[in-house]
Amino acid sequence: KKISIIGAGAVGASVAQVLAIKNIADISIFDIVEGVAEGKALDIQEGAPHFGFDCKLQGFCTQDPKEYANLKGSDVIVVTAGLARRPGMSRDDLLVKNIGIMKDVGEQIKKYSPDSIIVAVTNPADIMAYALQKASGISPERIIGLGGSLDSSRFRTFLAEALNVSVRDVNAFVIGGHGDDMVPFIHYSSVSGIPISDLLSEEKIQEIIKRTRFGGGEILNLYKTGTAFYAPSISISVMVESVVNDQHRVIPCAAYLTGKHAENYKVSNAFIGVPIKIGKNGVEEIYDLKFSEADAKEWMKSVESVKKNNKLADD
Ligand code: NAI
Repeated sequence: KKISIIGAGAVGASVAQVLAIKNIADISIFDIVEGVAEGKALDIQEGAPHFGFDCKLQGFCTQDPKEYANLKGSDVIVVTAGLARRPGMSRDDLLVKNIGIMKDVGEQIKKYSPDSIIVAVTNPADIMAYALQKASGISPERIIGLGGSLDSSRFRTFLAEALNVSVRDVNAFVIGGHGDDMVPFIHYSSVSGIPISDLLSEEKIQEIIKRTRFGGGEILNLYKTGTAFYAPSISISVMVESVVNDQHRVIPCAAYLTGKHAENYKVSNAFIGVPIKIGKNGVEEIYDLKFSEADAKEWMKSVESVKKNNKLADD
C-alpha cells in the first residue's frame, strides 16, 4: 500500500510521522521547496528501529513537476500544500492563493494517479476539495475534505473536560464547513448514550460550542506555536487509515452532496462537512441528519459561506 502527502510543512510532516508509526503503508512526501520533503522523510525513517515500522519513506521536490510521477500507485493522496493562517487571519483569507495551488496539484494528480482517494486538508478545506475535484476530474466521492474529523475531536475534548469523563465515551460531532460558521451538533451528542443536554447547562454547552468553533483560532492567536498541526495530523490519520484498511469508520468530513443528500442538506454540487462512512473507495455512504428549526438556521449559515467561496474556485 502507498500513501502520498503533498506539502511537507507542519501538517504534512506530522501526518507522515503518525502514519509511519501506524506502519500501514509506504509514504511518499512532496514539497516545492528543495530538500524539505527529502529531509523530513529521512528524519522520520531514522526513528523506525525503535518502533519497528517497516514502511519506507521517500521525499521528492516538485520544483521539477516530473517528480509528481512518483505519485503513481498511491492508494491515498493527502494534500496539505499551500499557505497557512497567520495570527489575525481567517481561513478565507487564504482562498485565492490556495485555489491556484490546488489547480496545479489537481492537474498532476490527474496525470499520474487518477485512481487515488484524495484527502483535502489545505484551507479552507471544503473549497479546496471542490477546486481539486475540478482540476483533477476525479469522481467526487473519491475526494474527502478535512474539517469535521478535527473539529469533532476538539468538541469531544472540551466536552470530556467539562464532564470529567473519558474522552472515549463522548460521542459528538461537528458538521458544516470548516470555518467560523461550523455547526457543533449538540442534539446528537451523548456520553455513552446519555444526552449531553441532560448533563450540562445550556450556558456551558454554548460556551463549549463557541470554543469549538474557534478551536483553531485559540491555538493560533493565544499561543506561540503558529497554526495547529498535532490534532490536525491525528485527525487526518484516522481518515487515511479508514481508506487504506477499508475500516468503514463513520467520521464527519467534507463530502460532495448531490441527489437526495443535496435535498436533505439544501446544498448541491458542493463539498461540506456531514457524517460519512469512509472505506477503500472513499465516501461509501453519506448520512442524512434531521434538523430542528434552530439547527437548520445554523446549518444554512455555513452552507451560504461555502457556496460563496466555491464561486471563486469556479472562475
Ligand atoms: P506549512 O506552511 O507548514 O506547510 C505548507 C507546505 O506546503 C510548505 O512546506 C510549502 O513549501 C508547501 N507548498 C506550498 N506550495 C506548494 C506547492 N505548489 N506544491 C507543493 N508544496 C507546496 O503549513 P501547515 O501548517 O502544514 O498547513 C498546511 C495547510 O493545511 C494550510 O492551508 C492550513 O491552513 C491547512 N490546515 C487545514 C486544517 C483542516 O482542518 N482542514 C487543519 C490544519 C491546517
